[in-house]
Amino acid sequence: MQIIRASRDLYQKYREDILDIFLDVISMEMYSQYVDPEVESAYHDDMFEKGYYLLALEDDKLIGYIAAYPLAEEPLLPNEIKEKYQPERCDYLSEMHIKADRRRQGIGTKLMEAYLKGVDHDAYDHAVVRAWTVEGGAGPFYKRFGFEDDAIIDQVKTTKDGKGKRTIQKQYFFKKL
Ligand SMILES: CC(C)(COP(=O)(O)OP(=O)(O)OC[C@H]1O[C@@H](n2cnc3c(N)ncnc32)[C@H](O)[C@@H]1OP(=O)(O)O)[C@@H](O)C(=O)NCCC(=O)NCCS
Repeated sequence: MQIIRASRDLYQKYREDILDIFLDVISMEMYSQYVDPEVESAYHDDMFEKGYYLLALEDDKLIGYIAAYPLAEEPLLPNEIKEKYQPERCDYLSEMHIKADRRRQGIGTKLMEAYLKGVDHDAYDHAVVRAWTVEGGAGPFYKRFGFEDDAIIDQVKTTKDGKGKRTIQKQYFFKKL
């Protein structure tokens, strides 16, 4: 397996695969919500423009990825976090997903290790992640790497049938770099 920071060409090459993994994750029962592929596609392009991607590749196939960008560019950041940290000194690991049939095989660990090694330690004091507070969510995985619980926010999501709304909770986790 190789972990590569995506150039623009590499991002374009794997863009559809990144989206496929992402759409598969957010349609999981525990994360269940309405999904518009075009919106999610634009969301990923925007993350590439303001940040960077680490791709986990095996035989040239994408098996997982991380997307990260400066926390100061995160629109949902609660005041509680803004007052406690300097968002411009925090790198936000906004998405981290492993292909469904490759989870619990150590790939997430390798990606996270590569991320923590490669993150700009001069530019940032903290790495930040945000995880759904659902049973089976990724919080315990992040804690293994020294990320510590912080603020919880509410987010309103459209239900899978596209007709209703539901409120879910997401928790921030911070790790000193
Ligand atoms: C969470 C995720 C990124 C972890 O990557 P992974 O490759 O499966 O993780 P690893 O195999 O390196 O796991 C190492 C250890 O972390 C812990 N761990 C991993 N995923 C976990 C989870 N969902 N819940 C609790 N602990 C978890 C376990 O202790 C695991 O060791 P074990 O398999 O021997 O029990 C991956 O499972 C995934 O993509 N999940 C679905 C999408 C998702 O939830 N992404 C995060 C959104 S915030």
